[in-house]
Amino acid sequence: MLTGGPNGTTWERGADRGSGDGSIHTEEDMADSGTGKGNTLSVRDNRTGREYEIEIHDGDVIRAMDLRQIKVEDDDFGMMSYDPSYMNTASTRSRVTEIDGSRGILRYRGYPIEELAQKGTFLEVAYLLLKGELPTRKELDDFVHQVTYHTYIHQNITKLLDGFRYDAHAMGIMISSVAALSTFYPEAKQIDDPKVRWEQILRIVAKMPTLAAFAYRHHRGLPYVYPVNDFSYTGNFLHMLFKIGVRDYEPNSVLERALNILFILHADHEQNCSATAMRVIGSSQSDPYSALSGAMAALYGPLHGGANEAVLRMLTEIGDVKNIPDFMDSVKRGERRLMGFGHRVYKAYDPRASIIKDTAHEVFSVTGKNPLLDIALELEKIALQEEYFVSRNLYPNVDFYSGLIYQALGFPVEMFPVLFAIPRSVGWLAQWEEMLEDKEQRIARPRQVYEGYGERGYVPLDERG
Ligand code: CMC
Repeated sequence: MLTGGPNGTTWERGADRGSGDGSIHTEEDMADSGTGKGNTLSVRDNRTGREYEIEIHDGDVIRAMDLRQIKVEDDDFGMMSYDPSYMNTASTRSRVTEIDGSRGILRYRGYPIEELAQKGTFLEVAYLLLKGELPTRKELDDFVHQVTYHTYIHQNITKLLDGFRYDAHAMGIMISSVAALSTFYPEAKQIDDPKVRWEQILRIVAKMPTLAAFAYRHHRGLPYVYPVNDFSYTGNFLHMLFKIGVRDYEPNSVLERALNILFILHADHEQNCSATAMRVIGSSQSDPYSALSGAMAALYGPLHGGANEAVLRMLTEIGDVKNIPDFMDSVKRGERRLMGFGHRVYKAYDPRASIIKDTAHEVFSVTGKNPLLDIALELEKIALQEEYFVSRNLYPNVDFYSGLIYQALGFPVEMFPVLFAIPRSVGWLAQWEEMLEDKEQRIARPRQVYEGYGERGYVPLDERG
């Protein structure tokens, strides 16, 4: 009998799995189900004729390490699973975010995304993700105060920003400047101290909008506008971005609210590419600035958080509704992708996309309609009907409509992934904290199936053909 948990113990059932009762597996749970084998998977190795019973946990999970006991010879390495791109591998247990991809459900710490987006503020949701519970009034006031008073960045960081070319991509600037922050806070290396960790978390949440706004102002050749403490998180961000030539800048409340909603929607999305990068880098005990910089680099790619930028470029290239049929034909021939569509986990409409679509209309009532909206709506209409997209469960994801809002707000496309990265830094930090507190986690280190040469002798340079 192969045992599952560490030291042969069983696992705690995830609160939201199975019956959802948060109960613990007991010996009774493992009881005979009529076959005499209970909650186990019977495996017969036809190479040896040996049979194994592998414990099943949490309803339908087996531990990959249990496979290692399956061997032909005693000194074999043992069996392992091969799973490129983690298509079917859980790398952690988590209590932060739950996605049910087939039903289009997204919840942070149990709260539906729709409710949070409608009723919450971004910092309230940030607190929820980071601490596990919604804050009391006092906890929220303290948190907002702390974040507000960490928004300034060291002047030397502005010198670093000044060194970038005027047309440097804002994500490149962000990735570099967040990594550079680690040199200003060397104590951040003390990742075993929860107080030190919390201080860095506050700093990162507070400084991300400042860095992003400064990157934008650098790109525009405008002087930096420093944070003002009596604005909201998103109001202050708009102020640092767009204040030009006025003594008092007042952020438009509709746009401030829209950004608040967008930030909430982007705050976390469980074990995606960038969260995994954060966890993997953090698992070597790097400081959080360096790990977050790596997570941001993972987000930058067009298949992940760079998709919002790619969507806008695609819509601009299509240019007119009459060009859509040709474009869709090229997608169906596999020559290109319909950016902003499809998702590894969602096989239904991404709930964030529906909320963003509604928010877009509110924003356009202030900014005027983005002319690319008609193209986007037509693409969606066709994709939801055509066999190619329907059979592959390709629905609009979070990035399909967000870029239209960002553009209407006046952002250049290079800023779009940055607008994703600011709120997502909260999710990365929540995932990082959880990883550090998880006694089962060690340095991340996958295996490989080696396919290269066996040993061969070195051939001197002059003798090579
Ligand atoms: N346009 C056209 N075909 C697509 C698309 C798309 N956007 N997405 C997937 N497919 C097809 C793909 O060609 C494949 O077809 P076939 O089975 O015939 O080979 C099938 O659907 C499965 O695709 P996959 O690439 O194996 O799926 P995946 O889970 O590895 O990729 C994805 C997920 C999000 C990378 C992919 O859907 C994609 O490239 N979408 C466009 C980029 C995008 O919008 N990314 C943002 C994702 S949501 C926010 C975020 O993560 O940051």
